Amino acid sequence: MKVEIFKDKETLYRSVSDFYVKAINEKPNMTLGLATGTTPIPLYKNLIESYKNKQVSFKDITTFNLDEYIGLDKTHKASYAYFMKNQLFDHIDIKLENTFIPSGILEPQVAISEFQKALDAHQVDIQLLGLGSNGHIGFNEPGTPFNSTTHQTDLALSTIEDNSRMFESIKDVPTQSITMGIQDIMRASKIILIATGKQKAEAVYGMIHGPVDENLPASILQKHNDVVIYLDEAAASKLK
Ligand code: GLP
Repeated sequence: MKVEIFKDKETLYRSVSDFYVKAINEKPNMTLGLATGTTPIPLYKNLIESYKNKQVSFKDITTFNLDEYIGLDKTHKASYAYFMKNQLFDHIDIKLENTFIPSGILEPQVAISEFQKALDAHQVDIQLLGLGSNGHIGFNEPGTPFNSTTHQTDLALSTIEDNSRMFESIKDVPTQSITMGIQDIMRASKIILIATGKQKAEAVYGMIHGPVDENLPASILQKHNDVVIYLDEAAASKLK
């Protein structure tokens, strides 16, 4: 695990986006695993800017998103499909047919098998991850088996609370999701995890120094041979 700590978020996100621009230029048809949440937004902003400045093109890129809420369709503003269009896809030259996100409205077993089939036909070159304050990755909540593939999950109460800021009221937050499994995430050639803010410090500590334990899903990343963790000082504040 390589851990990089940045004094300010701007430098952090600049470093991550420079890495992506270089990697995509080296392999313009790569497969990217993407994430949602607040964490990747500045990265997506930088990538849009690089696209507009003609420093990078996404026309041959394929993407797989980690997860989606069950019950939200792509027109719902809190759905991850809406988020991806709004925060990234609508502003770059990616072909939407090459972007895969689990469906929140199909019958879950159908959505899961469709997504898994597409994912299994690709090798993800770089998987981007955020980190839940309880150590989740994607929507793989504490207790999820490390050998899980794409599956339906019940969201932890802490996740519902954390994510309620995206909804009008906490009652509107879906209680279930479909997520790429931990085994799927670990299959990526390279993994980049970004965590910022002191509310992530405890999970960051466990991910890096703690035992590899299903109760802290991100701790499995200790077993991957190419992981880079990007942290700001607040998220890194509990590290040894
Ligand atoms: C969400 C998403 C994760 C995300 C995490 C952190 O629930 N399912 O993929 O990484 O929680 O979110 P944020 O970046 O908003 O802190």
